[in-house]
Amino acid sequence: MDIKVFPVPSEKMKTKISDETKLGFGKYFTDRMLLVEWKSGQEWCDARIKPYEPFNLDPASLVFHYAQEIFEGLKAYKWTDGRVALFRPEMNARRFNQSAIRMCMPEVPEELFLKGIEQLVSLERDWIPTTESTSLYIRPTLIAVEPVLGVKPSDHYYFYVILSPVGAYYAAGFNPVNILVEDQYVRAVPGGTGEAKTGGNYASSLKAGLEAKQKGFDQVLWLDGTHRRYIEEVGAMNMFFAYGKRIVTAPLTGSILSGITRDSVLKLAPTLGYEVEERLIDVNDLMSDIKAGKVTEAFGSGTAAVITPVGKLCYKNDCLQLTGGKVGEITQNLYDTLTGIQTGKLKDDFGWVRFVE
Ligand code: PLP
Ligand code: COI
Repeated sequence: MDIKVFPVPSEKMKTKISDETKLGFGKYFTDRMLLVEWKSGQEWCDARIKPYEPFNLDPASLVFHYAQEIFEGLKAYKWTDGRVALFRPEMNARRFNQSAIRMCMPEVPEELFLKGIEQLVSLERDWIPTTESTSLYIRPTLIAVEPVLGVKPSDHYYFYVILSPVGAYYAAGFNPVNILVEDQYVRAVPGGTGEAKTGGNYASSLKAGLEAKQKGFDQVLWLDGTHRRYIEEVGAMNMFFAYGKRIVTAPLTGSILSGITRDSVLKLAPTLGYEVEERLIDVNDLMSDIKAGKVTEAFGSGTAAVITPVGKLCYKNDCLQLTGGKVGEITQNLYDTLTGIQTGKLKDDFGWVRFVE
């Protein structure tokens, strides 16, 4: 499918943030966006790259009422030789379509997803920040825009992609975050939508996140919804625990997101001399193992969060400090290796990088 490119009028061109250390996460957006529509009977149509601007949507649009919505998150990096690299974007395309199937939405052809992103990023390459720990965050989104109040799958969708130059997701940068194990609210249950990257999962987690923030925590760690016992994931990252040189993470049981960074850690770690294990992690055992000094490090993984070290982990009345509140050696090693591959400083033996023309 051809993508029509519309010019951006000069008065709509934005000024770029000159101090890249002030970018924060997801606060600024580039000049252009990709928009493709899907209409019942017509399938995918009207692909265009156009000026970034608000939508004019009917207040009855299904997305506003019943949250038929999915999204993705990936990043583009500008290498020192000027090339622009995407990290495993095919994985995002596949996961986007898994989410689409779960939410009864049309799948976006992988080629359209990848070519659309590449063409948009190529046009916006001057927006890619180059300071350490910055990148261009890419947010593909699919929303239901049919204006009707009946609960049903939409007959009209917008697939769009917006771009945001970003720094670290957590304000503290690459520093340990404090995490509260959530024992009251649940994020997902077997058979629910936990595995899909859909807005409702995030909306329903806001209350727990807010209450944790009021108690001084950065994030909550979710337990499984059935037993309230097994470690699932954090709001925007999968979790890993280092038992010496063995790194353990929760299995993909259907209620957590199948993280692309998680998968990358599981593949990279053995090449760095660590063993990996996917297994159910009972929170009570975990707390005892931390107390006994068996768990030496904990970290989260995610596109926005990259590799984020955990400082304090609290569950009920028990608060434990990991790695003396510092960044652990394994965490640092995985961070350096992953970001090294993403930014072209290290060899990409897995073939994970895809260049934008
Ligand atoms: N879990 C949740 C709920 C997330 O929102 C994210 C972020 O995308 C992740 C895990 C990490 O996934 P990925 O590494 O693919 O970004
Ligand atoms: C990402 O890491 O890409 C995410 O989607 C996390 C987001 C909720 C900020």
